[in-house]
Amino acid sequence: MPRPEFAPTALEPIETASRDEIAALQLTRLQATLAHAYAKVAHYRAAFEAAGVHPDDCRSLDDLAKFPFTTKDDLRKNYPFGLFAVPRSEVRRIHGSSGTTGKPIVVGYTEGDLAVWASVVARSLRAAGGRPGMLLHNAYGYGLFTGGLGLHAGAERLGCTVVPISGGMTERQVQLIADFAPDLITVTPSYMLAILDEFRRQGRDPRATALKVGIFGAEPWSEAMRAEIEEAFDLHAVDIYGLSEVMGPGVAQECIETKDGLHIWEDHFYPEVIDPETGAVLPDGAKGELVFTSLTKEAMPVIRYRTRDLTRLLPGTARAMRRMERITGRADDMIILRGVNVFPTQIEEIVLRSALLSGHYQIELTREGRLDAMTIHVEAHPEAWGTPALAAESKAIAHHIKGLIGISARVAIVAPSSIERSLGKARRVVDRRA
Ligand code: DLL
Repeated sequence: MPRPEFAPTALEPIETASRDEIAALQLTRLQATLAHAYAKVAHYRAAFEAAGVHPDDCRSLDDLAKFPFTTKDDLRKNYPFGLFAVPRSEVRRIHGSSGTTGKPIVVGYTEGDLAVWASVVARSLRAAGGRPGMLLHNAYGYGLFTGGLGLHAGAERLGCTVVPISGGMTERQVQLIADFAPDLITVTPSYMLAILDEFRRQGRDPRATALKVGIFGAEPWSEAMRAEIEEAFDLHAVDIYGLSEVMGPGVAQECIETKDGLHIWEDHFYPEVIDPETGAVLPDGAKGELVFTSLTKEAMPVIRYRTRDLTRLLPGTARAMRRMERITGRADDMIILRGVNVFPTQIEEIVLRSALLSGHYQIELTREGRLDAMTIHVEAHPEAWGTPALAAESKAIAHHIKGLIGISARVAIVAPSSIERSLGKARRVVDRRA
């Protein structure tokens, strides 16, 4: 299918630097960050002392492994501003994430942090094929969530025209995409599917828009979902990653010319992958939990933050910086069903292979007697709904799931629009086991 080609133009020097140059910059910045955190944040001073380490002990990048991890729990304990390394009056913006339990986590940015954030998002958008002068439809939520404002500032920095529509009012999303003819769209992949439904409902051809690239993230999604969205809208779909604790969107970005995982902007965010059980640092290429140390943050440096996201580090390709493999799941989202581990994206890969089904699905966990059971609720494609082929399809999908993942699940094919839609991150798992 002929989609426009994008050549990487006007890269920043660091994007083509040698590994030695990157490592030298990282070490200088890491040492400064450790010293800053130790001097200004009581939590880090106490944690370093408890671990018997001092910032001066960091003489090489490998020395970082001697320093203690930071967890979401540490952020909660220091709610709201306890981890700030600058006076509150120097913090220009607050973001936060609600999380599923308890207090939100709070993060802060100095003016300098906001400038760095805009620059890494601008770099991400350019890697995604964005260019100055393009029109960008930003349907990530505005507010405490970092998606909306984070993408917004980066797009302006790149020189795009931004439509700050935020999430929701799906009918209007479609109207404005048709009327304004944006080149780029930034949105969660699950909400992009809701926009797709609305195109169909209005009788508009989703392939006829001006959209060239969709920049999708904030939740796990699969290669099958990429194929589904690219085909439906005739655009390039690329992956953007980030988290509030580390910055927000723009920590890592997939390049449009290779679509082979996400380059981590290693001049600002130092990645490690660890064994989640032992905490040991794993070599590049091994799968484990992603850990980040910020290298330039002023308001709220984070040292060895455990993301709970599972991935592996891979060598750079389109850029000098290392890549991370697409995040297939968070440790928190892993379902253990009768001893077998499964992530929602594995189910998504299988469900989306069916031409009769849509990408709207939800996994329900229940307890039947003493055993756990899984039901996958998935919507039929509007054209397939009501056709006799669906009964056989649900059996076939259950069979593939058994064969490929090793679990017995019921597949309930339901009517279009019957599964809850989210305006941002989709809720893929509903756990009803007591
Ligand atoms: O979701 C930041 C963001 C906004 C990223 C817009 C991309 C686009 P939080 O709300 O703090 O921040 O959630 C962070 O979302 O630890 C991952 O588990 C998940 N996540 C983010 N991007 C991806 C992605 C934003 N591309 C958490 N693939 C992270 C899979 C992702 N999971």
